[in-house]
Amino acid sequence: MKTQVSEEIKQRCEELKISDDAMVELMDLFLRELNKGLSKKDNPTADVKCFITYIKDLPNGEERGKFLALDLGGTNFRVLIVHLKGDKDFEMESKIYAVPQDLMVGGAEQLFDHIADCLANFMKDQNVYDERLSLGFTFSFPLQQLGLTKGLLVKWTKGFNVAGVTGEDVVKLLKDAIKRRGDIQIDICAILNDTTGTLMSCAWKNHNCRIGLIVGTGSNACYVEKIENIEMYEGLETNQMIINTEWGALGDNGSLEFIRTSYDRAIDEQSINRGKQIYEKMISGMYMGELVRLILLRFTKDGLLFNGMDSELLRKSQEFQTNYVSQIESDEIGNYKNCMEVIHKLGLSANFKDCANVRYICECVSTRSAHLVSAGIACLINKMNEQSVTIGVDGSVYRYHPKYHDLMVKRIRQFVRPEISFDLMLSEDGSGRGAALVAAVACREEGRISG
Ligand code: GLC
Repeated sequence: MKTQVSEEIKQRCEELKISDDAMVELMDLFLRELNKGLSKKDNPTADVKCFITYIKDLPNGEERGKFLALDLGGTNFRVLIVHLKGDKDFEMESKIYAVPQDLMVGGAEQLFDHIADCLANFMKDQNVYDERLSLGFTFSFPLQQLGLTKGLLVKWTKGFNVAGVTGEDVVKLLKDAIKRRGDIQIDICAILNDTTGTLMSCAWKNHNCRIGLIVGTGSNACYVEKIENIEMYEGLETNQMIINTEWGALGDNGSLEFIRTSYDRAIDEQSINRGKQIYEKMISGMYMGELVRLILLRFTKDGLLFNGMDSELLRKSQEFQTNYVSQIESDEIGNYKNCMEVIHKLGLSANFKDCANVRYICECVSTRSAHLVSAGIACLINKMNEQSVTIGVDGSVYRYHPKYHDLMVKRIRQFVRPEISFDLMLSEDGSGRGAALVAAVACREEGRISG
């Protein structure tokens, strides 16, 4: 039999629910913010900056060549080599390298020297050390792009805070580091966001793909916008362009106070970018486990959980990992195997009632996240107003949470115009292949051939 969740816990979790009215309000807010970001006059004061990516063409599956790709901005730093063979066929090898914590908050030269080091090391491994190759750089932070190969970092997000990069051209920093080594020959063909990489990667297989979404360490979306709606772009030679919304910053001006809770405020207070990325902090993997931990701690202190007895680990920040949420919600109904395991790992002792309550709290936090993302996606789908649209998705939360996809589909359906059809497609390898494809499309445009 399923153990019942305490009434008091249910009541106290009510503030984590995003009601239908709140969904509508959120969608209206996001649409206003998107339009501000796209408008020349309002962009300087917009929270959602709607960055221009300079990517106008989607891939057609016929791209060919050997490309390198770098992927910086999630939990891992990856280097890849992608061999596009045309006819939607490709081969790929990749290697994950650690970015030590001290590099994430150190100086620019150290970080970019490390990246160049890993790149050279990977090229040796792959026996392409002596080849001159084109590279696509997935750099998943807000970038003000001045071209496909020029982008100034606007601000760091997630756990990064490297001195000397904000306001600088990130492509140049990488080029300089490669030059300092002097041993490898690389043409950096494009710099892009992970959302863009995901969109490109999915569009390569599915021509209906028009939105790229990440729900991982951070959260963000990009979409294909009509050129006449992008006042910030001066050129006219194209009829569409991918826009990187950087929606994580929604709410930085206080507009999300109607749904924020004391736990969200605590998360923000202890973060390294206070007052920034308010929407992201309510959604993404970097914060989800910590949100659950703060709620568990509060409820324990108030005598609602674990017989009122907390533990040293539960009091310690970041101890409740976001993947615990997925594990706990993966238990079959009425079975609390994973849940018990997590509770024991945290040095707590629990009965079945506690387990039912802990699971419920996890569900409230992850469902809220899925609903917040759904509001953003539903808004984009309605704005684009195409008959049918595919959304390419990547990121650890979406990928590993057992119900995230279904929660999203249901909630988006409820708020998208009934005549529009949509589907969510998991990207096989968002940022990696995507970066290679952007490089390939860029090379195609320039009439260059790689590999
Ligand atoms: C953060 C970054 C954004 C990225 C997202 C997902 O929001 O600012 O550029 O796309 O995380 O990784």
